[in-house]
Amino acid sequence: MTTRYEQVKETLKANPKTWLITGVAGFIGSNLLETLLQLDQTVIGLDNFATGHQHNLDEVQQTVSSAQWEKFTFIEGDIRNLEDCKKAVTGADYVLHQAALGSVPRSINDPITTNQANIDGFLNMLVAAKDEGVESFTYAASSSTYGDHPGLPKIEDRIGKPLSPYAVTKYVNELYADVFARTYDFNTIGLRYFNVFGKRQDPNGAYAAVIPKWTAAMIKGDDVFINGDGETSRDFCFIENVVQINILAATAEADAKNQVYNVALGDRTTLNILFDALKTALKDSNVTYDASPTYRDFRAGDVRHSQADISKAQNLLGYEPQFRIYDGIGKAMPWYVKHLSATQ
Ligand SMILES: NC(=O)c1ccc[n+]([C@@H]2O[C@H](COP(=O)([O-])OP(=O)(O)OC[C@H]3O[C@@H](n4cnc5c(N)ncnc54)[C@H](O)[C@@H]3O)[C@@H](O)[C@H]2O)c1
Repeated sequence: MTTRYEQVKETLKANPKTWLITGVAGFIGSNLLETLLQLDQTVIGLDNFATGHQHNLDEVQQTVSSAQWEKFTFIEGDIRNLEDCKKAVTGADYVLHQAALGSVPRSINDPITTNQANIDGFLNMLVAAKDEGVESFTYAASSSTYGDHPGLPKIEDRIGKPLSPYAVTKYVNELYADVFARTYDFNTIGLRYFNVFGKRQDPNGAYAAVIPKWTAAMIKGDDVFINGDGETSRDFCFIENVVQINILAATAEADAKNQVYNVALGDRTTLNILFDALKTALKDSNVTYDASPTYRDFRAGDVRHSQADISKAQNLLGYEPQFRIYDGIGKAMPWYVKHLSATQ
């Protein structure tokens, strides 16, 4: 049976749309760009390179034809500036708003800068998109919104108190989105990503996510640090599933809008198991890492366990994740080996 994703992709190919991706030079944004250009869509991208990279865009260019690449317009600009948002959204049918400063520890070290990008920038994008009258506005929300709620698996309408400034910003996004539906009849979809991973996720810097950070350390033969006892768990979600749900959300019917959805798999993997899985996958790419991890203190602001109930996205959006964690690690590892071995 054809999935909704297959159907939507066929429809888009036959009737191309104009998309705005904010945060296009980042990990998730550049993967969205790659798929949309491969579907012959017209794409506008906005980024200020705060954490994104030109080399991510260059890499996408290598994966598409020159005719497809010509359908991409890049605007170097800042979502904290309303004029940049207005310029970027002009002519867009669908908005995929990804630009934000990620990372819980970054937000603890510098809550003001995180707030400016994630709340001021978000509000600017909402206003610009509403005024432009776009058909849909899909935004990156976060599983951090579950905060201290102990329930597992996580269900969209049962949230606790935020545990970090980052989590506050992502929750405020949801509140603004809801108020825009009530006050302006501007309906959005929020995608609460759990831990996303895959090619082009930045392995460098103090705020790198666990999978690229550990993979980089293993390839270089460095120590791997586990915060806490390693029994902290996450619902790791491969990037291709995230691309799928963004396309499904952007093209969703009205009754699926003004909602937030969990985006993950419904699985739970501990950090100890993840460590072994990365080691094994690297071995398949001919990289041997023999060391054991070094355990250190738990990190402030971290949620202990995370696991999504994805039935809402399955039922209302037709989301069918195609890659489970081991599939995703298997697909991501050769990219890391190629790119990190070259820069050693
Ligand atoms: N990766 C995950 O596991 C995860 C989990 C939950 C939520 N999210 C959310 O998904 C989105 C994308 O995350 P990512 O992992 O691709 O991170 P990323 O850092 O790779 O990408 C974010 C992009 O936004 C850009 N950006 C930041 N501030 C900006 C500004 N003021 N103006 C214009 N561009 C700006 C950055 O330069 C970068 O290219 C973010 O909103 C993040 O909070 C990600």
